[in-house]
Amino acid sequence: MIKKGIILAGGKGTRMSPLTKAVNKQLLPIYDKPLIFYPLSVLMLAKIRDILIIVNKGQLNQYKKIIPNGNNLGIKITYLEQSYPKGLPDAFILGEKFIGKENVSLILGDNFFYGQNLTKQLEKNTKLKKGARIILHKVNKPELYGVAKINKNKVLKIQEKPKKFLSDLAITGLYFFDNKVVRYAKELKPSKRGEIEIVDLINKYKKNKNLSADIIGRGGAWLDTGSIEDFYKTSAFVSAIENRQGFKIACLEEIALNNGWIKKLEIQNAINFYGNCDYSNYLKRISR
Ligand code: G1P
Repeated sequence: MIKKGIILAGGKGTRMSPLTKAVNKQLLPIYDKPLIFYPLSVLMLAKIRDILIIVNKGQLNQYKKIIPNGNNLGIKITYLEQSYPKGLPDAFILGEKFIGKENVSLILGDNFFYGQNLTKQLEKNTKLKKGARIILHKVNKPELYGVAKINKNKVLKIQEKPKKFLSDLAITGLYFFDNKVVRYAKELKPSKRGEIEIVDLINKYKKNKNLSADIIGRGGAWLDTGSIEDFYKTSAFVSAIENRQGFKIACLEEIALNNGWIKKLEIQNAINFYGNCDYSNYLKRISR
């Protein structure tokens, strides 16, 4: 069982400057909540309660204002600062102590997942004991992502942002790894762009025949929020669903309550904390 998760919320968000000059990208809004709520909700839906959030140097206080330590959600949050972005696998080097001897899941701080079967699928993947598992989703522009060519759930080839068509299955920013990930990450050499690469890390598992893949089908949505345009599109998606159904996506307190991790008292505290707003009104409704 994977009980630990890392959210990589570092990065300078340069593609979204000037918005990101003063505020970390993951604290900017996707419709009615900060972006960080969405990847955090995914780990919580996976029943992962021990979570490390890696943030940029100097931005810790901003995060603690909105997500102090997880007590209010019945989870444990640890923060670490990253001095500069060294590549995604750096999460496992920085997180070595946090990971200890356990297996671990990684979610990128700007990834958004939604779908009817999501929770079941997450729970299935946290059962991983050995090897690595990548989560794939069909996209229109695979050249923007890491891409996997597969046969059933055997991964034949993976490549970062391939120029020549390889497959239309993007590697989403949600990964499940056994404990070898720490050692493998330390062995990586920086690529041409001077960072250690997640695809190189995954390829180590592939070489050792320890890589598997799971697919989020067309009934699920995976959006990433790399650009300003993506921010607006994802916000529009959340707004459409929330306003139509009256349910909120990524309401952390609701997930914690449903998981049995908090009681109605904590919901009341959350209402006081957030103050008079739409999010609090929703919390009032779900606690009735
Ligand atoms: C990163 C990974 C890529 C993955 C993507 C998912 O790319 O390198 O393999 O498909 O995240 O969001 P980036 O968004 O940093 O370009």
